[in-house]
Amino acid sequence: MARAPFELSLLGGATERAWRRARPDVAKLAWHTLDADALPRALVAPAQRFWTGMAFQEHRTAACTAATLQALIAARAPVDLVAHAAGFVGDELAHVELCARVAQAIGGAAPLVHDPDALVPALTPGLSAFGRACELALRIYCVGEAFSLALQQATARAQRHPLLSAVIGRIARDEAKHAAFGWLFFDWADELVDEPLRAALRRVATEAVEGVAQSIERGGADDGATFGWLPRRRWQTVARRALDDDVVAPLRARDLL
Ligand SMILES: [Fe+2]
Ligand SMILES: [Fe+2]
Repeated sequence: MARAPFELSLLGGATERAWRRARPDVAKLAWHTLDADALPRALVAPAQRFWTGMAFQEHRTAACTAATLQALIAARAPVDLVAHAAGFVGDELAHVELCARVAQAIGGAAPLVHDPDALVPALTPGLSAFGRACELALRIYCVGEAFSLALQQATARAQRHPLLSAVIGRIARDEAKHAAFGWLFFDWADELVDEPLRAALRRVATEAVEGVAQSIERGGADDGATFGWLPRRRWQTVARRALDDDVVAPLRARDLL
């Protein structure tokens, strides 16, 4: 397993200016209103760890949306559908920057080591280009993105700090498009999925849903003071409902689970 520190940078100059023009709302947020000194001492380190972890999750999602994009191109999916998904890579990079900036504003990122070769899940061996596009659309969008939308929305609503509410609300706005994409993809792909591929996809869906269900039972931050996350019980309640209503039900309706 390769291990590398999770550290990011901006090139600056004309490249950064073009990035700012493409996402003008990111730099305009009231970043100066975040202040580590205003946080209870005991909350600083957990908040730095949380926002560094969030930046990493968004970084991993950027890699997953890029891998899905490549698979959609190789599968010769409809050009307008592929172009729609192409925009999501930039969205995720904007989310990386948003989360990294929160960490920076509260005293800096926490140390984090990761495996750059394991950002994208391994796929079922032997699939065609179309099969790979289906598996990635299923894993990344029908499960991952569809699951996280309701959590992002609930987390944004729960924030008392205006900047945290703006950052998470800004991310959730993009995630609404991402959460719908898997279903849009299968509206097109469904009639092209043969029985062996459907059986493989159903196995993938079962395993992915089980993985999320286990993470819900394990997961969530401790109850008590928070800085951008939901208390454990609230998180688990929203997460269980999101998994049932936004992932399992639509997968079953499409005979993918
Ligand atoms: Fe994101
Ligand atoms: Fe997303």
